[in-house]
Amino acid sequence: MRSVVVGLFTVLLVAVAAPAAEAAGRCGTHPWCSTALSPDDRAGRLLQALTPAERVSLLGGDDLLGVLGGAGHHTGTSDGVPRVDLPTLYMSDGPAGSRQGSATAMPAPIALGASFDRATATRYGALVGDEVRKKGNDLVFAPTLDIMRTPLGGRTFESYGEDPFLTGTLGTSWVQGAQRAGVIATVKHVAANNQEGKLAEGTTADDALIRPIAAGSRFTVNANVDARTLREIYLAPYEAAITGGHAGAAMCSYNRLGGSFACQNDALLNGILRKDWGFQGAVIADYGAVHDTAAALNGGLDIEPWPGTLLGSAAVNEALAAGTVTQATVDRSVRRTLRMMFASGMFDRAAYREDDTQIDQAGHARQARTVAESGTVLLENRGLLPLATKGLKSVALIGVGADTFRGGGGSSKVVPFRTVTLRQALTARLGAGVDVRYDPGNDPAVAAALAKDADVAIVVGVDSSSEGGDRRCLRLSCTDGLTQQDAMIDAVAAANRRTVVVLQTSGPVLTPWRDRVQALLEAWYPGESGGEAVTRVLLGDAEPGGRLPATFPKREEDEATAGDPEAYPGVDDQVRYKEGVLVGYRWFDAKRITPAYPFGAGLSYTTWRYRDLRIHRSRGRAPATVSVTVTNTGRRRGSDVAQLYLRIPAPRAGQVAAPRQLKGFRRVALKPGHSARITFTLTPRDLASWNTGANAFRVKAGCYPVMLGRSSRDIVLKGRLPVAGGRCR
Ligand code: BGC
Repeated sequence: MRSVVVGLFTVLLVAVAAPAAEAAGRCGTHPWCSTALSPDDRAGRLLQALTPAERVSLLGGDDLLGVLGGAGHHTGTSDGVPRVDLPTLYMSDGPAGSRQGSATAMPAPIALGASFDRATATRYGALVGDEVRKKGNDLVFAPTLDIMRTPLGGRTFESYGEDPFLTGTLGTSWVQGAQRAGVIATVKHVAANNQEGKLAEGTTADDALIRPIAAGSRFTVNANVDARTLREIYLAPYEAAITGGHAGAAMCSYNRLGGSFACQNDALLNGILRKDWGFQGAVIADYGAVHDTAAALNGGLDIEPWPGTLLGSAAVNEALAAGTVTQATVDRSVRRTLRMMFASGMFDRAAYREDDTQIDQAGHARQARTVAESGTVLLENRGLLPLATKGLKSVALIGVGADTFRGGGGSSKVVPFRTVTLRQALTARLGAGVDVRYDPGNDPAVAAALAKDADVAIVVGVDSSSEGGDRRCLRLSCTDGLTQQDAMIDAVAAANRRTVVVLQTSGPVLTPWRDRVQALLEAWYPGESGGEAVTRVLLGDAEPGGRLPATFPKREEDEATAGDPEAYPGVDDQVRYKEGVLVGYRWFDAKRITPAYPFGAGLSYTTWRYRDLRIHRSRGRAPATVSVTVTNTGRRRGSDVAQLYLRIPAPRAGQVAAPRQLKGFRRVALKPGHSARITFTLTPRDLASWNTGANAFRVKAGCYPVMLGRSSRDIVLKGRLPVAGGRCR
C-alpha cells in the first residue's frame, strides 16, 4: 500500500515538476515550445523565427496528386519547415469518412441530420476524426454545414438538411467529437454554397467532380442573398459551430457571394467570421476556389491547399513586389495558421502514424450501423412493420439498392472497409426457413411477378447524387439507368398488398405511390452497415429512430425555388434567393402548402404522450426554459424526438416571419410505461432575428407562441413565452 502511495506521489511530483516545454512532442526547445504560453503567443514567437520566404511557403499547399484519394494519399499537404521543427500539416476529406484509401463508410450526413441527436453527432465526428488521425492526418475537411436550399442540390446527402438550428447544433457536436479525437475540424463551405449547378442535357449523373453545367455552376455563380437570410439561415450553422464548437478551421466556398468570390471576400472572412464571431482559426480555400492572389490574402484567406499556385511562393512574391499585398498581410495569415496548429496541440505530440491496423474496423462498423438505425425514418406504416417472422415463408426483395452498396459521389465518397447489403443481412437474419428471392427491378412486370407469390415484397428505391451536378428532378425515375422505378413500385404494390418501400436517397424525393404501399422507410445512403441497419429496423430489432431533416413535397412545383430560373439555377450566373428566410418547412408553412411528409416527421413502433408543458421566461441571467414530460405509452421500448418550435416576430413591420422555427429538439429512448422530463433552454440568440439596420441579432419584446410537437406539422402542446419585457395577456 505504502509503495503505491509513494509511487503515486512520485508520479504527481514528476508531473508537476516536469517543465511544460518537455511535453512529448516534436517542437524541440525553441522559445515557442512552452505549453505554458498561449497558442497566440507561441504563434507570434515562431512567426518571428521564420524567414520571409519560409512564411510565404506556408500559404500554398504542396501536394498536387493527393486529391485523387487512394491509400497513402492525403487530400492536402502543407509542408512544414524542418529548420525550426515546424511540422507538416496533413489534411483529409471528409464528411462521411476519410477519403484516403478505405475507411468506415458512415451513413450519409443527411442520415445524421435525421437522427436529431447530439450524442450521435459527437460519436460520428469522433469516429471520422479517429480514422482520419490513424491515417496520419491532422485536419479533416468536414463537417459540411451548407443548408439544403433545394433538394435538387447535388450535395444534399452531405448536408444535415434544411434547418439552420438542427444543422448548427449537430455540426457543433460533430466538431467537438472530431476535435476531441485529436484532429482539427473544418466547417465548410462558407458561404451560400447551395447548388452544384444544373447539368447540361445528355450528361449522366456520374460522380465526376467536373461535369458540363448548363446554368448556375458552383464555380462561378453569384449568390444574391439578403443580409437577414444570410445570417438567420445560411450562416447560422457556421456561427454555431465556430462560436459554440470552436471549430479550428473553415473552408471558403467556390461561389461568389454578393459579387465577390467567397475565398476573396473581405466582408465574409475578415468581417463576419473574424470580427463578428471572433474566429481565430485558419480559413482554407476549397480546391481551386482562389482566383486572385492579392484579393485572397487581403480578403482574409490563409491557406490554398490545392493547387497551391495562387498562394504559391512565385505568385505571392510577385504580389509583394507589386505592392498589392504587404508583408504584414502575409504574416497575419501565417500567424493564424500557426495559431491553429498550436491550439490543436500539433507541436506537442508526435506525428500521427498512418496505419489502418490501428483502426477498430469491427467496432466502427457497429457504430455505423447504429447511426443508420438512428437516422432511418418510418414514414408510413399500416401495421405491416415491424415484420412478423412467424409464418413468414418467402420475401420478394426488389431493386438494385438491395444488392449493392450505394453512396453519394464526389469528395465525400468513401471506399468502405466492408459492406453488408440488405440482401445479405436479411437473408442471414431470416435464416434457411425463409426464401428471400431477389430481382433488380429493371422490368416492372418481372418484379411484380416475383412479388405476387411472396408473403411480403420489399422494394428498394434509389436515386443517384453527387457533388459536381444537381439532380435533374425529384422523381425516383430521374435516376440514370433506373427510369422505371416509380412504375415498378406501382406494379409491385398492385401485385402484393403487403409491400414495403425502402428508400435509399440523397434527400427528399417524390412518393406518388405512398398511399398504395403498406409501409415506407427512408434510409438515405445508409453506409457500409446499411443492410444490417435496415434489416434490424424492418424486423423490429431496432426502432426506426429518424425524423425528416427536410420536407418531402407532394409535387416538385411546391418547392420555393421551383419554376423561376432566377431563383434556381440562376440566370447569367446570378442566383437570387427570392424566398428569403422561407427555406424548407418555413416556406411550406408560410404558403400553406401541404407536403407529402413534413419536416420533423417520423413514426415510432411505440406510442408517445406529451404533457405538462411549462414555460419560464428569462429572469436576470437565467435563460428562458420550456419543459415537458414525454411518456412511452406503448408496449415496446422505443425512441422519440420531441421538437420545440417558436414563432419569432419579424425584425421589422412588413418583413416576413416564419410561422414556426425549430429551436429545440431532444431524443429520448424509453421503456414502455416510462416517462422523462425534458427541458429546453432558450438563449437570447435562439429568440433573436437579424436586424439589418442595426447589423446585429436583436431580441424583440413580445409574446412568442411556443409549440411542442412530434413534427413541424404535428404540434401537440402549445403555450406562450413572454420575451424581453413583453407580455402575454
Ligand atoms: C469540395 C470540398 C473538398 C475538396 C477536396 C472540393 O471539390 O468542394 O468539399 O473538401 O474538394 O477534396
